Amino acid sequence: MKITNDKMILRVGVVFVALFAIVNTKSVNNYENAKHEVEEYILNKKKEINLQYKLHYHVTPPVGWMNDPNGFSHVNGEYHLFYQFYPYDSVWGPMHWGHVASPDLVHWKQLPTALIPEDEQCFSGSAFSYDDKMVLMYTGRRVSEEDPYFNETQYLAFSDDGINFYKYDGNPVLSMTPNNAADFRDPKVWQHGDYYYVILGSKTDDERGRVLLYRSKDVINWEFLSVLGESKGDLGYMWECPDFFELDGKFVLLMSPQGVEPEGDRYKNIYQTGYIIGDFDYETFEFKPEVEFQELDFGHDYYAASTTENDGRRYVIAWFNTWEIVHPEAEDGWAGAMTIVREMKLVNNRILMTPVADMVSLREEPGTQKELQPNENMQFGKTVEIIVDADLNQKIELQLDGVEGGGQVWLRWDPEVGKVVVDRGSDDIRQVEWEPLGSHSWRIFLDASSLELFCGEGEVVFSSRVYPLGGWKLRNLSPQTVNITAYNLQTSAPL
Ligand SMILES: *[C@@H]1O[C@H](CO)[C@@H](O)[C@H](O)[C@H]1NC(C)=O
Ligand SMILES: *[C@@H]1O[C@H](CO)[C@@H](O)[C@H](O)[C@H]1NC(C)=O
Repeated sequence: MKITNDKMILRVGVVFVALFAIVNTKSVNNYENAKHEVEEYILNKKKEINLQYKLHYHVTPPVGWMNDPNGFSHVNGEYHLFYQFYPYDSVWGPMHWGHVASPDLVHWKQLPTALIPEDEQCFSGSAFSYDDKMVLMYTGRRVSEEDPYFNETQYLAFSDDGINFYKYDGNPVLSMTPNNAADFRDPKVWQHGDYYYVILGSKTDDERGRVLLYRSKDVINWEFLSVLGESKGDLGYMWECPDFFELDGKFVLLMSPQGVEPEGDRYKNIYQTGYIIGDFDYETFEFKPEVEFQELDFGHDYYAASTTENDGRRYVIAWFNTWEIVHPEAEDGWAGAMTIVREMKLVNNRILMTPVADMVSLREEPGTQKELQPNENMQFGKTVEIIVDADLNQKIELQLDGVEGGGQVWLRWDPEVGKVVVDRGSDDIRQVEWEPLGSHSWRIFLDASSLELFCGEGEVVFSSRVYPLGGWKLRNLSPQTVNITAYNLQTSAPL
């Protein structure tokens, strides 16, 4: 049989296409199988989790390890939150993306694991909608045995239903920093005019943290625009998880610098999360800082904060932990949590954070009201919101304890010093000046292993993990009577 050259080419072409389709279907099937395996593993493993410290209205991993919030977004009428996730152990491992969704930023439902690592570990990133699809842009971290030991490039994954994500065939879409830095991660995408913009954390050749700005019309081809911000040498060697947004007429560069030295009361956690306020011009792509770096939260456990916007309100969530410490819940088969969602406002060159308004929907009515005398105490369940009204011209000291032990923490105010103190004992103290703008109340949110303290109108906020056994006990060690209003809170996150 004689085959003409043309026909030969056609046949070879057909074979190639068929072969490619088979290979492609096989890799898609492998990925689908891997997703099923993860879900099955989670379902089985969940039965073994000790729930003693599991948070009831904060997002936690179903099993295994959680760190940074990712892809915090409002897409198709629903809030989405993804998170750095390693299902197979309660310590960090090759990163997946876990996924929860919520109608109101308070009630969360678990969704299937959104991203599974293959050649690349799925590091932090963001979510947005493009062309009727939900898109994830994330850092693919590839590791190798020899120098350079890792590189970081930016990947895309798409979804038609906001639940099942498939990775883009042409990944990575963004590979190189102007100075070829290996650290190049945590893309945060937003839309403005005809363009999608993205900022990424990176560093200079001489190890100063910086943030790079790019833009794209099609989310595939990205053009470098500017260095949006850079440490002058005093703000660490790497800026992680950058975020950039307008707030009350100013621009805010939020990020998590690594390598900032402790300085008095400031920067006592291993890594920081904070912000620089300034002005930005979409013509020159220049960010002009006006107010220097400030910490966003003053507690022991707060990192990698990330925001989203809806109806003109700016919401923030963060990893309710920190690196390089013992996470007591790891013994129970899980580790890591998210803070409650807070709304941000910019007042007097400072960001105020208040619990998202719908948090009140968790209150079990009627609450309890009590004038708590010096040395008197009250007992609560594992989840409670406590509002404290006291005279700020006198000292305040409240001691919290687990009903069955553990969880000891003291909250203090001394008018002579003008600082609010959160003290976990053994000198494990965080403190900061507080000048109330209006309200003098403290709002305290306690969950099975967490404390969040909001002072006044959110001028000062502390997020600290504490580990009580049983429910919570509050003792008034102040020299004054304090007024307590307390509500048990319902469960609103998957246990
Ligand atoms: C990153 O590393 C992978 C695996 O070693 C390699 O295939 C890829 O070309 C590298 N990419 C860049 C941008 O260096
Ligand atoms: C505490 O409540 C009592 C009774 O309602 C009130 O008279 C007092 O002013 C309150 N104290 C503070 C500090 O809010």
